[in-house]
Amino acid sequence: MGRFVVIEGPDGVGKTTVINGIKERLPKDLKSKFIREPGGSPLGEKIREILLNKALNVSPETEALLFAAMRSENYAILKKDLPNYDIIISDRFLPSSLAYQGAGLALGMENIEDINDFFLHGYRPDLTIYLMLNKNTGMERIKKVRDYDKFELRDNSFFSAVNMAYEKLSNYPNSVVIDASMSEEEVLDTVMKEINKLL
Ligand code: TYD
Repeated sequence: MGRFVVIEGPDGVGKTTVINGIKERLPKDLKSKFIREPGGSPLGEKIREILLNKALNVSPETEALLFAAMRSENYAILKKDLPNYDIIISDRFLPSSLAYQGAGLALGMENIEDINDFFLHGYRPDLTIYLMLNKNTGMERIKKVRDYDKFELRDNSFFSAVNMAYEKLSNYPNSVVIDASMSEEEVLDTVMKEINKLL
């Protein structure tokens, strides 16, 4: 049975760089698959377009349900795929909804957990790696390279709540926290050490 690993953390911590690094460093004989949220499946990619569309102003509850619908589809595929892979790695998963919709949009982390457990039935990844940075550093990194997307335009209190939620979530079982202020090389070395322990 393959392992399911999730890479998490607030915006701007360098998840994409880390994931590209993992792709390069995983042994070539290993059967691996990479997915991302929002997105991941054909329907999920369509939901991603809806979610990132600045012109569509959906209610917080609708937003939480759209993320959940996207994830439900990913989970259905994951269940089928896991026996055929050594490792499946997802860029974001349930903790993003708990932090952004549960805490950031103040819908309540328990409510978000409930709507996700409608399809997850308590399933959780084998390992969740949290890349953590001081909040402002992450947002400043993004500003240097591109305009903020719809989600990154939310106000400071939103991001403080998201960050606090991540601090809390990173203490849950099967979680590790990695200091994303280290050099790219050091971050990746640490991430690979954690992944290799699982394989
Ligand atoms: P994305 O563009 O993939 O950004 P990143 O590269 O930082 O992962 O994701 C878009 C935004 O979606 C991101 O700001 C986090 C947010 N998000 C939620 O609010 N809830 C969720 O459940 C997920 C998966 C993402």
